Amino acid sequence: MSDEVVSGGGGVGRRGLLCGGGILGVAVLAGCGGGGEEKSAGDLKGKEVAKVADVPVGGGKINGAEKVVVTQPTQGSFKAFTAVCTHQGCTVGSVSGGLIKCPCHGSEFKIADGSVQRGPADRALTEYPVQVRDGGIVVT
Ligand code: FES
Repeated sequence: MSDEVVSGGGGVGRRGLLCGGGILGVAVLAGCGGGGEEKSAGDLKGKEVAKVADVPVGGGKINGAEKVVVTQPTQGSFKAFTAVCTHQGCTVGSVSGGLIKCPCHGSEFKIADGSVQRGPADRALTEYPVQVRDGGIVVT
């Protein structure tokens, strides 16, 4: 599966690469068009969405294939949210400075709870329950 590394900077221009690369099948039914569709916790249940080692404290990692962003707001505490921006459905592009950032119109969400820190988005990112299993972060 694609293993995207989030480096504080860029992010713009990466979206668009995310569709079609994943597993075909049921995922296709969810639609893969301009706007992203966030996955339900049920779709992701039991899936490893990131490796602990890839998620920096105070930052996060975007899993483009699963459209999930995994964060570590404080040492040893992991959170996962949909990577689909609640504004118009772009995939968020980067995580830095405690914020998940959308490249499309500049919305920012807190890594601790997905809440909107800066608009135009006005709804928090959906959170998925996760636990650490064998060095991976797994949706429960
Ligand atoms: S789609 Fe994310 S800010 Fe507009």
